[in-house]
Amino acid sequence: MEWVLTEDGTPTLFHPGYREAYHPRQGALLQARRLYLEKTLTHLYPAPRVLEVGFGLGVNFRAALESALERGVRLRYLAVEKAPLPREVLEAARLPLPRAEGVFREILEAWPEARFRGPWGELRLLFADVAQAELPPFWASAVYLDPFSPKANPEAWSAPVLLKLRLALRAGGRLATYSAQGAFRRALRGAGFRVHRVRGVGKREWTVGIAVGPLPAPGR
Ligand SMILES: C[S@@+](CC[C@H](N)C(=O)[O-])C[C@H]1O[C@@H](n2cnc3c(N)ncnc32)[C@H](O)[C@@H]1O
Repeated sequence: MEWVLTEDGTPTLFHPGYREAYHPRQGALLQARRLYLEKTLTHLYPAPRVLEVGFGLGVNFRAALESALERGVRLRYLAVEKAPLPREVLEAARLPLPRAEGVFREILEAWPEARFRGPWGELRLLFADVAQAELPPFWASAVYLDPFSPKANPEAWSAPVLLKLRLALRAGGRLATYSAQGAFRRALRGAGFRVHRVRGVGKREWTVGIAVGPLPAPGR
């Protein structure tokens, strides 16, 4: 895998198997803040509970943690990751987040463990394919759907996975993702989300799904 510097000065990796980078060229941290944190309102929740598909370099985790530490609230973060990166790689991906980086260094000392806890909150990792993972029901205030693209990584965007994510969200919780693909948006609607196209930063559109209204009938 090869390091690439994104336009906001934060690093990402290019994955030769998927032939995609872990983050957009416009900015790894930019996307974490403007899309995942802000479009799910994680930065406003008094006790955010985030469920992430694809922990990757932990950029989204660290952005959410920085926001929680700045506000003095506890973060609970559950990430599903089927191919965890080695500690040395995560250590090399430094971010300009003074509070979160200190906690992340401590986490990396014991990486990869399934659970980390501290006064800042809790990080749990399910080292599994999201299609097989068991998720806690009605738990999350936010879902960060961040696998590689639907074209390169289709199993992570499938209808059964989207339904599972819907069931893991609390009422009114929000799912955010960079993908604006039509087939994905239809599947998201079919999984019981109210779907919104939102303007992206450095990209025309992102997608937000809100967990409101009835769940789809069983068997759909
Ligand atoms: C775009 S990167 C995620 C970047 C990450 N969110 C961050 O903040 O650095 C995609 C990640 O999804 C993981 N992934 C891909 N398919 C998956 C699946 N089916 N289940 C769980 N994780 C998956 C990959 O291993 C990779 O780490």
